[in-house]
Amino acid sequence: MCGIVGYIGRNQAAEILLKGLEKLEYRGYDSAGIAFQTSEGLTMFKEKGRIVDLRAVIPEKIDTYVGIGHTRWATHGVPDQKNSHPHSSASGRFTLVHNGVIENYEKLIKEYLKDTQFSSETDTEVVVQLIEHFAEIGMSTEDAFRKALSLLHGSYAIAMLDEENPDTIFVAKNRSPLLVGISEDCNVVASDAMAMLQVTDQFIELHDGEVVYLRKDGIIIETLAGDKIERASYTAELDMSDIEKGTYDHYMLKEIDEQPGVLRKIIEAYSTEEGTLDIAPMIKQAFKQADRLYIIAAGTSYHASLIGKEYFEKLAGLPVEVHISSEFGYNIPLLSKNPLFLFITQSGETADSRQVLVKIKALGYPSITMTNVPGSTLSREADHTLLLYAGPEIAVASTKAYTAQLAVLAITAHAIGGGAQMIDLKKELALTANAIQTLTDMKEEIAKIARELLTDKRNAFFIGRALDYYVSLEGALKLKEISYIQAEGFAGGELKHGTIALIEEGTPVIALATQPSVSPNIRSNVKEVLARGAHACIISMEGNSETDDRLILPYVHPLLTPLVAVIPLQLLSYYESLHRGCDVDKPRNLAKSVTVE
Ligand code: F6R
Repeated sequence: MCGIVGYIGRNQAAEILLKGLEKLEYRGYDSAGIAFQTSEGLTMFKEKGRIVDLRAVIPEKIDTYVGIGHTRWATHGVPDQKNSHPHSSASGRFTLVHNGVIENYEKLIKEYLKDTQFSSETDTEVVVQLIEHFAEIGMSTEDAFRKALSLLHGSYAIAMLDEENPDTIFVAKNRSPLLVGISEDCNVVASDAMAMLQVTDQFIELHDGEVVYLRKDGIIIETLAGDKIERASYTAELDMSDIEKGTYDHYMLKEIDEQPGVLRKIIEAYSTEEGTLDIAPMIKQAFKQADRLYIIAAGTSYHASLIGKEYFEKLAGLPVEVHISSEFGYNIPLLSKNPLFLFITQSGETADSRQVLVKIKALGYPSITMTNVPGSTLSREADHTLLLYAGPEIAVASTKAYTAQLAVLAITAHAIGGGAQMIDLKKELALTANAIQTLTDMKEEIAKIARELLTDKRNAFFIGRALDYYVSLEGALKLKEISYIQAEGFAGGELKHGTIALIEEGTPVIALATQPSVSPNIRSNVKEVLARGAHACIISMEGNSETDDRLILPYVHPLLTPLVAVIPLQLLSYYESLHRGCDVDKPRNLAKSVTVE
């Protein structure tokens, strides 16, 4: 996490950098800082808190054309002013911002910086002190920069200023996302193109182990060994409207509302000339050669993967194991003879998932990344990519990426299975988009349910069976992360094996009952909790409902119910978070793109 930006050009840099950081705030929002080159030398501002707090301390009339900025999600050191970036070397000559984790910082201190006085608790400060150390023994800035980088173990995206070279921003990347943007007026660097769309839509991808010297009139890309690299730019296919809130108060609500449109876009993107849905032949081939699929993911993407398993097994007859990425990498289970790995990740940057990809690639196994971000690290590093077409997801709580994952999983499983089985997927997905639309138009009713059920509650339970169970897990995660209510998702039948002890007078229990095959069973589980005083809310589906059900979802094919059932759960969380005065889009302690393990 953490986001970095850098600007060098003909325009005043302060506002551009602040706006860039605002766009990157989803990556971390514990503290923020900016350093500028000015006619009086390097000047730095940093603040604990949000970009708005940083903005408040930067003089309006600061005259500067070169600067670097950072928004932080704390890893090493508590989130305070001292630990915020940028960090400077002891003499103040070098100042840098960093996203990533330097694993061998203690060893580097022992070997090179025993006598250095550190002013923060961060691994980042070691990097800038190390560069100064090499400069002090006579190396040019370029050599000192490269020498220090060559000693680092870990991940980094770095932008550095040198007071003695005010016309250059020194940039480096290894395993943390970073792009260079170019234009006639300026050259920029950013963790995400979104931050610098305000000045250019032309970007150049950087690869691990590359350094860049960014000047007003051009850029030089080199390897760590000093070999020059030529790489063409690409046009970022992002629209400013995709990354603005527009008339919405929160990105989360905007993104919930975008879901019918996303589904329609996915249908279009995966439609063939014959009017059916399909995936690229090479990807299909990779699936066909596998005897078992291993899906690797984290958080909401893991919850989507559990539903994906059902799709692959039911529609394609392919056995599937689903694993949490942070567990799998350190305890690889016995694998089948011809495994295929599918990484599901909205951001394409999640470090836990990436470490698995690195390991399985080293073992020689084939891989596919399903992601929302073309060109992201996991997309570049896997053999193939399946895109989600959800558009930028900015709220920390994932919503539209989850439904997009379910849709693309269904399309993929259907395509591998030959597409002929039991379901006209294109038609059913189109109907699902309409059903989601109906629900997003029922906001008032869902906000009312949130009030009835969750006001002043400290905990809540979500229960379901079969596919509904997996949606319950996602419903509980949404409520936890944005409204800080302790919430758990359970398989309905499992309650009586322990958890039912927690049910007391007024405990909210949200029961999903969309699956005809297990409807009587989940309804019995509801009776069990009602008998113990729970306040139950049954969410069922047309064709499978009863009079007392609190919300009846429009009918969709039973395999696609998760795409619809999750919508009221997203909205319940949204309204409860709003009601409690929480920061809906930027919940405490979290960041959007989790690039540390
Ligand atoms: C929750 C949420 C997270 C992410 C998880 C994985 O709303 O968004 O749980 O799903 O951090 O992120 P990706 O999908 O980017 O790998």
